[in-house]
Amino acid sequence: MKIAVYPGSFDPITNGHIDIIERAAEVFDKVYVSILKNSSKNPLFTTVERQELIERVTRHIPNIEIVSFEGLLVDLMREKKATVIIKGLRAISDFEYEFQMALTNRQLAPEVETLFMMTRAQNQYLSSSIVKEIAKFNASLDGMVPPEIQEDIYRKIGQR
Ligand code: PNS
Repeated sequence: MKIAVYPGSFDPITNGHIDIIERAAEVFDKVYVSILKNSSKNPLFTTVERQELIERVTRHIPNIEIVSFEGLLVDLMREKKATVIIKGLRAISDFEYEFQMALTNRQLAPEVETLFMMTRAQNQYLSSSIVKEIAKFNASLDGMVPPEIQEDIYRKIGQR
């Protein structure tokens, strides 16, 4: 059984994340979508809220499980008996940081492989930060996040 972990902050999940989850679920027997707790100092959504949003938009994918983790990703990999880290790669600006993380994870756990999936062209410049910025000004999130979670984002930004 080939098990992968797709880690991230998911604050909030975007169409870019969903695309990678769908494609990874086609390749692997099981994919753990893994939310890093306290990933930034001031996340918009709590870990539980982020998990609920992910659940709502990934119900159609049977072989995934949504979990949260603290500490090192390689420790989660060992706990879940996962051998592959899935990362989505967008514009070239992602490369340097992702390269650094992949090499660090290899140093810490040589048995773990990092696999990069190229995002679709339409998601090339999409990020959770951009989504939050747009929501702050009440502009349309169509094409960026699924309709069923857009209201949650506007509401939460409005409370800030
Ligand atoms: O969605 P993000 O914020 O780009 O995800 C970053 C994430 C969660 C993949 C990364 O911060 C991470 O793996 N953090 C866990 C800490 C860790 O293992 N660090 C060592 C590798 S640099």
